[in-house]
Amino acid sequence: MSETQNKIPEHVAIIMDGNGRWAESRGLARFEGHKAGTENLRQIIKTSVEFGVKHLTIYAFSTENWGRPKEEVNGLMTILETVIDRELNELNTEGVRICHIGRLEAMPKRVRSKVEHAVQLTQKNDRLILNVAWNYGGRDEIVHAIQEIVREGTTVEQVTEELVSQHMYTQCSPDPDLIIRTSGEMRLSNFLIWQSAYSEWYATATLWPDFNKEEFQKAIDAYGQRKRRFGKR
Ligand code: FPP
Repeated sequence: MSETQNKIPEHVAIIMDGNGRWAESRGLARFEGHKAGTENLRQIIKTSVEFGVKHLTIYAFSTENWGRPKEEVNGLMTILETVIDRELNELNTEGVRICHIGRLEAMPKRVRSKVEHAVQLTQKNDRLILNVAWNYGGRDEIVHAIQEIVREGTTVEQVTEELVSQHMYTQCSPDPDLIIRTSGEMRLSNFLIWQSAYSEWYATATLWPDFNKEEFQKAIDAYGQRKRRFGKR
């Protein structure tokens, strides 16, 4: 018998791809694409609450994104700071809990303290858990987990899947039910490689700034058609 499922995934994770192409196709600077993508994120957070999604994880800055031109990296850091300054109070009032996934210590000090403040301020909220992947890489996360496990003096016999899971950055949320990637790419790109073992995937050619409520609904509907077996019959 197949696993029964709710129509609404409890945890949706999104690879928000296509900001650069969205801007370039309009003759705009890439930064404008990231700004439009940020505006869109606001709407998708609201829509997640409306749809009854309980956990939303967004891939916003990967460990590989440091390799982009300096001005783009700085622009993205400024966007994160501005968003926290501008949106934190409303997110908090709306009951959104912000969790960070990734290596915080390698981020610029000012951005880091803002993220820490946002995480601390919203820690008791539970209407929507928003995991922000910033300076995040799936392989880096696994290396970090192994380092912690070794540091704790764990014996070989004590190493289990459960223990490894407990050392992942994603302590605020269960594994994702649905992973969405925009812009037509079909790659994992080092995102949640441990947690996505049994996630359902949805890819759309729509660029992230254009991924609106209707597009989100289509992804949720596609998920509703899937039969999840988790390797069983
Ligand atoms: C991928 O598009 C997008 C990014 C690398 C950045 C995503 C960041 C935001 C939407 C900013 C908002 C996030 C927060 C948490 C404030 P791309 O630049 O790779 O696009 P391309 O593939 O078309 O070049």
